[in-house]
Amino acid sequence: MKTLDWTQYDRVLIGASIRYGHYHPAVAEFVTQHLHELKQRASGFFSVNLTARKPEKRSPETNAYTAKFLQQSPWQPDCCAVFAGALRYPRYRWFDRIMIQLIMRMTGGETDSSKEVEYTDWDQVARFAREFAQLSGKLR
Ligand SMILES: Cc1cc2nc3c(=O)[nH]c(=O)nc-3n(C[C@H](O)[C@H](O)[C@H](O)COP(=O)(O)O)c2cc1C
Repeated sequence: MKTLDWTQYDRVLIGASIRYGHYHPAVAEFVTQHLHELKQRASGFFSVNLTARKPEKRSPETNAYTAKFLQQSPWQPDCCAVFAGALRYPRYRWFDRIMIQLIMRMTGGETDSSKEVEYTDWDQVARFAREFAQLSGKLR
């Protein structure tokens, strides 16, 4: 990534989706590389995944990917949310379509590979955006 001019930012929101059980490695790399700057600023994190289509797995504590991230991360965001993502079979390549169909079959989800389903609760996203915007600043 090009150098980041941190003087331009007084808060940071990081969002990342899950693919095959993991966030993109760039997330952890960014956190390690910019830990000092992140700690100085008001910050938030949101995770996007399909496990969160089930409401009981849609909080930082109950969503395994998010709980594990928070447990392992040297950066602790001031606010955190988990959003359900989208399932878009027709856009996946063959291998991903088969794999995700298998996961959906095992977890009681949509298996019709002609479907596109958006599980995101956009009201939840709006509430979280407000919460993030209302965080009090840390920089002096
Ligand atoms: C190849 C692939 C693998 C995925 N693996 C998982 C997974 O292991 N667990 C999960 O809960 N969701 C999984 N998802 C669902 C994604 O997190 C969800 O579709 C999200 O909206 C994708 O956002 P993105 O396209 O910006 O990465 C996967 C999706 C794709 C396309």
